[in-house]
Amino acid sequence: MTTVADLIQRDGLIVVCGSGGVGKTSVSAALGVLAATQTEKRVLVLTVDPAKRLANALGLSEFGNAEVQITRDLFKTSKTKLRGSLAAAMIDTKASWDELITRHAPDEATRNSVLQNSLYKNLTERFVHSHDYIAIERLYQAHSCGAYDLIIVDTPPSRNALTVLDAPKRMQDFFSSRLLKLLTANSQWQLLALAAKPFYEIADRLLGKGLLRDVAEFFTLFRTMETGFVERAKKVEALLHDPKTSFAVVTTLEDAPLSEAEFLSAALKERKFSTNLAIANRVIPKELQGDALVQQVQDLNKLLQDTALVSELTDLLSKEEFSAGIDDQSLSKLVTQTLATIENYAQVTTQISVMQSALLDRVAGFADNFVAVPMLETDIADINGLVALGENLNIG
Ligand SMILES: Nc1ncnc2c1ncn2[C@@H]1O[C@H](COP(=O)(O)OP(=O)(O)OP(=O)(O)O)[C@@H](O)[C@H]1O
Ligand SMILES: [Mg+2]
Repeated sequence: MTTVADLIQRDGLIVVCGSGGVGKTSVSAALGVLAATQTEKRVLVLTVDPAKRLANALGLSEFGNAEVQITRDLFKTSKTKLRGSLAAAMIDTKASWDELITRHAPDEATRNSVLQNSLYKNLTERFVHSHDYIAIERLYQAHSCGAYDLIIVDTPPSRNALTVLDAPKRMQDFFSSRLLKLLTANSQWQLLALAAKPFYEIADRLLGKGLLRDVAEFFTLFRTMETGFVERAKKVEALLHDPKTSFAVVTTLEDAPLSEAEFLSAALKERKFSTNLAIANRVIPKELQGDALVQQVQDLNKLLQDTALVSELTDLLSKEEFSAGIDDQSLSKLVTQTLATIENYAQVTTQISVMQSALLDRVAGFADNFVAVPMLETDIADINGLVALGENLNIG
């Protein structure tokens, strides 16, 4: 059974996935903070989410492709201190692609031609799947540079996380695809000759001048990098399947995100990844759960049977400084009303917590282990919020 404490003690990778808005980015950052304060590890949190709020919580004005070290200063107001080190970065697709091309291009001329190619620019800026591959590639790069013991990866919402994990395989498939072979079997010039005159003119008009030439050139150039890319994609795939890579699925206790989490966990299993830990986030805190409240109401009712105590309390409360001269009758009405409100509240939260415990059973069903993290009183806006979330993850 994997606990959060186990996860942060291991060197390697933690991939955090889940449906939209359930708290993946917050949990990733909180795990990073927890690992860097509880262990001496060099920790990196890699996010695909440009959430500015999170960057601010880590004391940065914004994230970029380059890894930034979080300074000890950030923990000034916190009760915990950094024992290891903590860095954070956001994956910038365009910058990462350019780095990748620069690394794999056989010579400078090819590199420049690819970087200038309009199809390449379009692909790297807009083509969604290129983001997936690059996220994984960036992760591999951070992992293989040896600067970190533990890397926590925040993935895009739910099903997109799967396309990220499938990206290395797709990259290999792409290079062995018939389409690419067809496009590049003849030289680009033959292809252009094929598309001669009328078709070429129409294509230019429809697609924009020179696009067809750019397409042919791009794929021809891209093939020169096949070996590098395929080898790399295989290594990246092996890294994801390494036993040191753990998967955490985050969900809230509502039907839709939970169904997504179940789907995700099954899809991970199909790919031979196992969900090591499920995290139920934003659960009703224990002290607000129905049972605890019902008990409090009962205790209060019992106290109110004690007439001596009530008259003492009334005396005390009717003093000027407490109640601005409120009379006994109004006071007892106020107490009754307050008790009734708490009682109603207790009934509602009892119902919610019964529902929650059924949903928690579902969470327990799709992972080796699970933790329940309460809804914190405030949004997670600074380092103290991340520390609090981390502590709750650890004891959950
Ligand atoms: N346990 C918690 N208690 C209180 N607020 C929380 C908790 N967990 C997350 N939040 C808040 O919920 C909101 C969504 O969190 P977050 O951005 O981490 O979700 P996400 O899954 O990364 O979203 P997206 O799918 O859009 O990337 C944020 O405002 C965050 O501060
Ligand atoms: Mg996010």
